[in-house]
Amino acid sequence: MVSVPGTWHDSLMLVGRGHIPAYPLLAFEQCRVEVSARNRGKEHPVQLEPHKRNWEDLAEVDPLWAILSNSQRQHGGWDLDEFFAAGEREVAGVMDTLQRLQLRIGDKTLLDFGCGVGRLTRAFASRFQTCYGVDISERMIEGAERLNKDYTNCQFHLNTVDSLRLFPDDSFDMIYTNLVLQHVPDRAIIKSYLREFVRTLNAGGVAVFQLPSYISLRRQLQPRRRMYTLLRSVGLPHTLLYNKLGLNPIKMNFIPAQEVISTVQSAGGQVNCVDTKQTPQYQSSTYFVTRPAATS
Ligand SMILES: C[S@@+](CC[C@H](N)C(=O)[O-])C[C@H]1O[C@@H](n2cnc3c(N)ncnc32)[C@H](O)[C@@H]1O
Repeated sequence: MVSVPGTWHDSLMLVGRGHIPAYPLLAFEQCRVEVSARNRGKEHPVQLEPHKRNWEDLAEVDPLWAILSNSQRQHGGWDLDEFFAAGEREVAGVMDTLQRLQLRIGDKTLLDFGCGVGRLTRAFASRFQTCYGVDISERMIEGAERLNKDYTNCQFHLNTVDSLRLFPDDSFDMIYTNLVLQHVPDRAIIKSYLREFVRTLNAGGVAVFQLPSYISLRRQLQPRRRMYTLLRSVGLPHTLLYNKLGLNPIKMNFIPAQEVISTVQSAGGQVNCVDTKQTPQYQSSTYFVTRPAATS
């Protein structure tokens, strides 16, 4: 890995030979992806069942705070315009980074994995012809559809499995996910999503995903989450646990960067750059992954 000189991001690292190849814009014949109707079932792995229920709970009691957990915005404190403006800023920053990395991509299809109520999906809508948001929570998907009626090129789909089998290979010019993989409880499932990102990416497309690479033992303890899980399992209502007892079920997970990189590489992806932000308790990395065209 090589540090990128310059002031725009000190922690940005290039992976590989020390430079980023510029990918040519590919010619696409169609921009819409066939979403498979067969796979809308609920055959999610057992590990995802409690996880899905937690997100349904959160989507009912305080969806915007569950998405952007600013302590001053808890219990319905988010202003909707401000909430969506934060998504606009985030997406503008990501597109700017792609430019700086000279990662040129097509503008036909985007996937926002773990879209919540579409905060980021709608911000991509002016940049891609069709934007797909998927989420594990029906309530989040309902919220996304309700709040983004004007964004006619955004589609939202429920995805409760550990894959992206809704979508065929080579579906997306860009895949983006932020603040999602860190909450998935099982590392094997996170890795399955990473492999799916590579599979569904077009040759020359870019997947940008955030995932912590380290969380201190102290921060992993999460007593409020453990208490929530215990009390919920004995039948206490989520509204009481969240509103009255101040507990929540949000889990934090991480995978060391080297393990992420080898998972991506073994799936056929290329990690071009890792952008890492660090505090003593926590290290979060954003990976910029491309899928080179297959060579015969
Ligand atoms: C913290 S929110 C972030 C939402 C969105 N990425 C944003 O930044 O606005 C996490 C979202 O990921 C969804 N999620 C969690 N696990 C998921 C999974 N395995 N597959 C799809 N969505 C998932 C949750 O339902 C929730 O909407």
